[in-house]
Amino acid sequence: MKASYQNKLCVILISYFFMCFQVNADNTRMKEVINDITKIYMSSMTYIFINQPLINQQTNDKQELFGQRFLENVKQTYQVKYSEDFPKEDHFAKTMLLQTMVEVMDDNKELLYDDEIGFKGIIPATFAFQISAKLETKGIGLKFKFTQIASSIRNKLNKPDLWESSVMQKIIKSPKIYYDENALLNGKPAIRQFTPLPMVPLCLACHGSPADNPLNANKEKSQWTNIDISGFKMENWTLDDFGGGVSISIEKSFLE
Ligand code: HEC
Repeated sequence: MKASYQNKLCVILISYFFMCFQVNADNTRMKEVINDITKIYMSSMTYIFINQPLINQQTNDKQELFGQRFLENVKQTYQVKYSEDFPKEDHFAKTMLLQTMVEVMDDNKELLYDDEIGFKGIIPATFAFQISAKLETKGIGLKFKFTQIASSIRNKLNKPDLWESSVMQKIIKSPKIYYDENALLNGKPAIRQFTPLPMVPLCLACHGSPADNPLNANKEKSQWTNIDISGFKMENWTLDDFGGGVSISIEKSFLE
């Protein structure tokens, strides 16, 4: 009797041990996937920022922005940015992201080749928004969002949700990546990661003060405008301000 009781206990303990092991392995895998997704997106963001001249230029040759060429460019940017190989496409989420990025660029083809429009508005914030919208119509539980504390928001569609607001409050003094494996997205269990955006001089062209605005270059101060090239009022941020961040969420059911 006693022996069988001990056996049962033993089986329970061993099962528990394997269950924990399994949960930990799943959590590690989830974290890996969201990390890769974040870095792939950040690389596309850097590519889009660096290539604003090409995006807005009048030229007949913008093929670097489309299809396989675009992906190759994002991959190269990744390798330079993180000094490591581009992640393996070993998860559906990564494949979907890469596919959707290309589709979004393709959807914008007419705009990108429209010589009448000087500033095309294809910047990381709008790119993230368009990727998310497309993923949503495909019914994929993967979301990208550029956000900032509510009082500094430009586009109210980027308004932070409760999770994002509370994360930003936590990290605003010393910005760092925040990972949460027990969050919710659309009311469903999700993993979420917030990656703060470092403020670099490039940001100031739009979010800085009129002195940083390229539209004011070589103009009398009395002629300066505080409206940036994208048509928004400049916020007077400096390099010491908090630049907001990229919020990425993946529904857990989608990770299984
Ligand atoms: C060419 C102008 C331009 C540059 C350069 C630029 N932004 Fe923006 N930013 C915008 C516009 C326009 C929006 C609103 C986009 C939209 O409508 O979704 C925006 C939105 C954002 C948002 C989302 C929240 C909101 O206000 O709607 C964040 C965060 C942000 N920018 C941070 C940055 C950071 C950090 C940099 C530099 C790394 C940067 N931006 C560079 C124009 C710019």
